[in-house]
Amino acid sequence: MGVAEELEEMRDEGLAAIASAEDLASLDAVRVAYLGKKGLLTGVLRGLGQLSPQERPAVGKASNDVRESLEKALAERRAHLEEAHLEARVAAGAVDVTLPGRVRLPGREHLINMITREIVEIFLGLGYEVAEGPEAELDYYNFTALNHPPAHPARAASDTFYVQDLSMETVDSTGESDVLLRTHTSPVQIRVMEQGKPPLYVIAPGRVYRRDIADPSHLPQFHQVEGLVVDEGITFGDLKGTLDYFCKEMFGRDRRTRFRPHFFPFTEPSAEVDVSCGICDGAGCRFCKGTGWLEILGCGMVDPNVFEYVAVDSERYVGFAFGMGVERIAALKYNIPDLRMLVEGDMRFLRQF
Ligand code: DAH
Repeated sequence: MGVAEELEEMRDEGLAAIASAEDLASLDAVRVAYLGKKGLLTGVLRGLGQLSPQERPAVGKASNDVRESLEKALAERRAHLEEAHLEARVAAGAVDVTLPGRVRLPGREHLINMITREIVEIFLGLGYEVAEGPEAELDYYNFTALNHPPAHPARAASDTFYVQDLSMETVDSTGESDVLLRTHTSPVQIRVMEQGKPPLYVIAPGRVYRRDIADPSHLPQFHQVEGLVVDEGITFGDLKGTLDYFCKEMFGRDRRTRFRPHFFPFTEPSAEVDVSCGICDGAGCRFCKGTGWLEILGCGMVDPNVFEYVAVDSERYVGFAFGMGVERIAALKYNIPDLRMLVEGDMRFLRQF
């Protein structure tokens, strides 16, 4: 028998073996028997060298053809067996295709961080810089340098969390020590003015603490964003324009603001700012308790007494400051009836934002 006939026979036998392989393992055994390192066809290719130069090209081509048709048949049979294998498993119930897949929820920003970021970004757009201060703060920064007299009620241990250093007995009979959890972000104003020189345009987000029982409108731990501007020629008009712009960016172009006289120890004059109610557009409804307005922040012109603590020349420089509660702004923006919902971690609620 010539080499050509031998090859033809090898191909026919190989194709028959492939067609009758009943599973992937026996199919692979066929592949090895013909195309493996010591396989039949590989043997023929190895023997090519012993053929005469006239025979070689024809036999070479014929063996390549055989290899190609065996490889093609192997691939087709493998695909067929794999599919049959899967179908058999499904039919046997080993794979329950009706089982729901595992849902992986992507992580997302908490509403409080989202609102904080939105507030900060509005002021970054106006050229402000971000500043931060410690949450465990000295009484000096939280109260004294902010012009709070020694007997100011906010200093009482019933309102403020004092940090006790048990080794140093720094707590006096009133329960107060000189270290406390800051009750507002305003102490960052003092730190910024101590460290930098005017002109200052600063926005300071952060966590604050008050000794309150959690209820729909209070949390013992919440977030504020503080603003401070110190420059030459600043007026109350600049403060009004800045905060009006902020409210429109935050709540919508159609919202109006009003400034009501108020008192804060560290600003003079001081004001509270209301934004027109987004539900009734100022007509008065349940959300705004019939007033048409929602209070959103406190502000004022920096008191010269404060400038004195940080050695800023109040003859040359004027400043304004403002502070707002992030939870309250979130509640107003999304009609959240109870601030506690923001900290309870119920994903059905938090995922809406
Ligand atoms: N620190 C005040 C508070 O927590 C808010 C505030 C009022 C901040 C007036 C200011 C300001 O900077 O000028 O209630």
